[in-house]
Amino acid sequence: MDRGMVIFLGALLTFTSSWLGLVFAPLIQINKQEPYVDDQGSGPTNYPRPLSGSALRGMHVYKQNGCMYCHSQQIRAETFGNNADIKRGWATRRTVARDYMYDKPIMLGTMRTGPDLANIGVRGYYADWHHKHLYDPRMMVPGSIMPPFRFLYEKRQIVGEPSSEALVLTGKWKAELEPGYEIVPTSDAKDLIAYLLSLDRTTVPLPESKE
Ligand code: HEC
Repeated sequence: MDRGMVIFLGALLTFTSSWLGLVFAPLIQINKQEPYVDDQGSGPTNYPRPLSGSALRGMHVYKQNGCMYCHSQQIRAETFGNNADIKRGWATRRTVARDYMYDKPIMLGTMRTGPDLANIGVRGYYADWHHKHLYDPRMMVPGSIMPPFRFLYEKRQIVGEPSSEALVLTGKWKAELEPGYEIVPTSDAKDLIAYLLSLDRTTVPLPESKE
């Protein structure tokens, strides 16, 4: 065999084996997942459940705005890194393949410039906190390096009664706003927050998460 052929076959083998291991095998794994029937409560419920309506639209807003470049959605096992993820209060158990069975795309994320969001829906933040934080993270977390997403909000003149959805600004953000104006969320902002509040990946214990 000449050298060119050896290089070609070597490259082919490298790419094929990584594709099999990193794309094909996980695809088979996720496709064979089935919902878990949780019968602890008042009646059997399925977990996970597919997103719909506003939360589903919000998942696309999350994707379009690149939130996953700074935020992961995966809780690592207790045995990994001194159980750091669970000790930080990000969740009560690790995440497993089944937690993502309805996600399209699955946004596990690779960087943690900000905290993990796998469970942000049950970590005690309300919609108005999220709105103010998205409008300008520093209003809620002094010194935050998360970029503001002000383009998801609209500044408009108050006509008649102020909107019940208007953000209740504080500090310099309040001082900056001319009197007679208000900041209201766009439908994208409302959808995005419905998505964040739907993120509750570890409340239901799954048998395989203990393995
Ligand atoms: C450049 C990196 C970066 C991007 C992009 C980014 N964030 Fe953040 N995010 C951070 C950092 C850093 C923090 C921690 C400081 C803070 O709370 O503001 C944070 C905090 C958060 C928190 C609070 C989490 C907690 O546990 O307190 C939420 C919710 C959040 N981000 C949502 C989003 C959403 C939604 C998007 C996309 C629209 C986004 N982030 C995009 C860096 C980022």
